[in-house]
This record gives sequence, C-alpha cells and structure tokens, in this order.
Amino acid sequence: MRHDHLLTAKQLSRADIETVLDRAAAFDDDPTAAGERHADELLALCFFEPSTRTKMSFETAAKRLGGDVVDMGSVESSSVKKGESLADTVRVVEGYADGVVLRHPKQGAAKMASEHVDVPVVNAGDGAGHHPSQTLLDLYTIREHAGLDDISIGIMGDLKYGRTVHSLAHALTNFDVRQHFVSPESLRLPRSVRYDLHEAGAQVREHEDLDAVLPNLDVLYVTRIQRERFPDEDEYEEVAGEYSITPETLDAAKDDLAVMHPLPRVDEIAAAVDETDNATYFEQAHNGVPVRMALLDLLLDDD
Ligand code: NCD
Repeated sequence: MRHDHLLTAKQLSRADIETVLDRAAAFDDDPTAAGERHADELLALCFFEPSTRTKMSFETAAKRLGGDVVDMGSVESSSVKKGESLADTVRVVEGYADGVVLRHPKQGAAKMASEHVDVPVVNAGDGAGHHPSQTLLDLYTIREHAGLDDISIGIMGDLKYGRTVHSLAHALTNFDVRQHFVSPESLRLPRSVRYDLHEAGAQVREHEDLDAVLPNLDVLYVTRIQRERFPDEDEYEEVAGEYSITPETLDAAKDDLAVMHPLPRVDEIAAAVDETDNATYFEQAHNGVPVRMALLDLLLDDD
C-alpha cells in the first residue's frame, strides 16, 4: 500500500484492501509478526468526539506493535477550549509523534489536517463523512464470514449521516457485492455517495423495508441513527426506533446470515440477538485490533 494518509475509503483499491486484510490475518495468527519494526514509535490520538472502540483499538494496536500512544485527551481538557485551530493542534502534535489518528465533528477535517503535517494521518471519523479504518475491519469480518465476492449485503439504518456506511459502500465497489440499502426516505444515502456508487458501476438497490430483501442477504450491516448529527430533535424523534432486529426478524434470513454493527448500538439490535449464531458485531469489534495493527504497520513503515 503506497499511501501517506488514510483519509477516505475512496482512495483504497482492491489490492490495497487485500494487502491490509492479509496482513491483519497474519497479526491475528501471530501478534508479534512485526518484530521490532515499531519499537519506540509513538502514535498521537486526537479525538474531538467521543470514542470507545476506535480509540482503544488503535491504542491496543500501537502497543501490540511495540510502540505507544500520546493522547490529546478530551476536548474539554485541551487547548481547543482556548480557541486553538485544528491546523495548529496537528502541527504541534506532529512534533511529538510518528502518526496522528484524528476524529473530528467536521467533514473534511482529516484531509485538512493532512495538508499541514508530514506524518501519516488516519481519519478516525470526520463528521458525517468517512471512517475508513472501520471499513477495513468491516471488510475483514465480511471476508471471514461470507467472502467478498458474489455476496449480497443489506446496509440498514442511518445512511445519510452514518460515516461508516459511506466508507463501506465505497470500498465494496471493489468487489462483486450486491448492495441493498434499507432506510426511511429521510435517511437515504447522500446524493454524492449515490453518484459515486453509480460511477463505480456498483450493484445498488434502495428499500424502505427489510422484509423483501432479508431472505437473500449474506450480511446485514445495521447502524445507529446518528442523533448528534440531526439539526433538529423532532426530526430524530420521527425516525428513532424505526428499525429493530430481533431473533424473530431473523427467522426469515439465511441460517448463516452475519449480523454486523459498527457499535455502539442503541435499540437497533435487541440484546436477545446476541445469543444467536448470527450475531457477529462483537467479533467485528475485536477485529479492530489486528486490522489497525496491519494499517499502522503499513503506514508507519518507512521502507
Ligand atoms: C461509529 C462512528 O463513530 O462513526 N462508531 C465506531 O467507530 N465504531 C458508529 C457510530 O457512532 O454509530
């Protein structure tokens, strides 16, 4: 993979994706596979929005590679509170670390940051934009369960504001995957993403109901309604709780359907689904470590 930064899933070719996933599989088998390559390397974690999995799995990955992290901490306790610009923050941070993982509420923030620094920047979520490292672990999980060719995936929930969806949909255009988008009309994929998928020749269908399409799916990727991105709470209330997966919902699905979710979930997947063989979301979250190890190994590798 020859990239300086990971900013969107659009920049990833099929070969790039396979390189990361194959290396992740090697780390899954042997977490010491990188040897001493990253001893003493430091990764800066700059999270301007809440995070559990993304931040902790990057930290775990850096440490398992023999490196360490420096963490900006919460926005409340940083100089952002004093009015510091993002450009200034990342310029300072590049003097401390060998790479920057950035999550920010503004779409395009990671790209802007990457223009101000020489160390690799990983976009760990930019508003309703992209979340490409999540996509890599999603693809890893899909590959393990269903393979990445000649499959049907349902992507359901908040397709408008869900950045994991935008990145996943772009990345899937590299593979022979039929993409079925299920959402209320008001939460359809943004026009720009639909345009890109069309241009890439993707096999895309949009639905308001899951019922018609569920029996054909190999993977169902469920997402949270992104409450924090709604301009108005009433609009959120109109769609909240619209979709919920229960064990009964899955009666109509293939036995080996993989139910995925980037997490955190609110009420889109009932806790009783956790006991079914279809529940794949916790395994998906665990895959964040080997996949982010592989990503850091490739991005931080100077050779
Ligand atoms: C996602 C995100 O931050 O976009 N979380 C994650 O990184 N696993 C999904 C979400 O918050 O709904």
